[in-house]
Amino acid sequence: MSIRATYDRLVAEGTLKHDPAQEAVMAEFDRIREGLAQPVKRGLFRRAPDPVRGLYLWGGVGRGKSMLMDLFVDGLGDIPARRVHFHAFMQEIHTALHAARKQGVDDAIAPVAADVVASVRLLAFDEMQITDITDAMIVGRLFEALFAGGVTVITTSNRIPDDLYKDGLNRQIFLPFIELIKDRMVVHELASPTDYRQDRLSGSPVYFTPVDAEARATMQAVWTDLAGGDATPLTLHVKGREVTLPRFRNGVGRVGFHALCGLPLGAADYLAVADAVKVLMIDDIPTLGRSNFNEAKRFVTLIDALYEARVRLICSAAAAPEMLYLEGEGTFEFERTASRLREMMSADWGR
Ligand SMILES: Nc1ncnc2c1ncn2[C@@H]1O[C@H](COP(=O)(O)OP(=O)(O)O)[C@@H](O)[C@H]1O
Ligand SMILES: [Mg+2]
Repeated sequence: MSIRATYDRLVAEGTLKHDPAQEAVMAEFDRIREGLAQPVKRGLFRRAPDPVRGLYLWGGVGRGKSMLMDLFVDGLGDIPARRVHFHAFMQEIHTALHAARKQGVDDAIAPVAADVVASVRLLAFDEMQITDITDAMIVGRLFEALFAGGVTVITTSNRIPDDLYKDGLNRQIFLPFIELIKDRMVVHELASPTDYRQDRLSGSPVYFTPVDAEARATMQAVWTDLAGGDATPLTLHVKGREVTLPRFRNGVGRVGFHALCGLPLGAADYLAVADAVKVLMIDDIPTLGRSNFNEAKRFVTLIDALYEARVRLICSAAAAPEMLYLEGEGTFEFERTASRLREMMSADWGR
């Protein structure tokens, strides 16, 4: 099924609104799909043919980049393709490089890339961004090897390629990667005026209390609507620690209160979480007080981080914000948290 047909069907059903800027990306997807449908001729002495030119789809949040990419990948049939969050992919690569080096392989990028090449014809990355110097140092050679092996790459990103790893350490070493992107991928801006994520969320409730069967069912329905597919865990590395959101997809993270505030985490961890998601869903926020004072303190820090980053918060909680923390040290400080929670519930909250 072509992405155009699926898109038109979803518009006709009323699931999607017709958007000319989204429509304008279809030609690129059609081109890639046609290219991938051609059989690959691989001979013993023939080097892999040049891959079909990929797509670097960038633009503001909520424009439908991930949605379009997912529709495209879902419609590829038996063409071996893999859709993966860029950050998760790079973590796999680092793990594989580490394992290869342990076995004494000097130039580990080549065999690691070869494994990827053997398994896919298309890699679809969600949210390409480079913030880490360890990624910045290897992506050039890694992608060179992937392209040489005939892999087509498509990706979504919030930034134009020239702004990747902006102000990063040792950026000059990274610059060839930007040229490689421009050479091997069509750079296309999804210039829709509409932030559909904001559209979807504004007006609908985001704070569910008490935590009963109804709240659980509603949280699940909101999650299904926003994530729109299978989630994977997202692990963030913060100062040598690991912080994991058990479920992550499309900029939406979902985690239980205890996994986030019941562990010895601090401001740096919560800032990393706030930076990694656009929407955070937290299940089962309990009432807070003397008996769970540490959890309460962490919750205050967490809400501050989410608030500063203008992350959308959707949660189920034992009580309304003002009733969450009624006794014990810090009741006064919690007033600010409650007020922030209120503000974050308003229709136009978010980024
Ligand atoms: N044309 C549209 N009509 C209605 N909803 C849309 C449309 N395009 C995208 N959405 C929805 O808006 C939300 C944000 O889209 P998404 O693809 O995640 O944005 P991006 O990846 O650009 O940040 C998703 O829930 C998506 O299904
Ligand atoms: Mg996205």
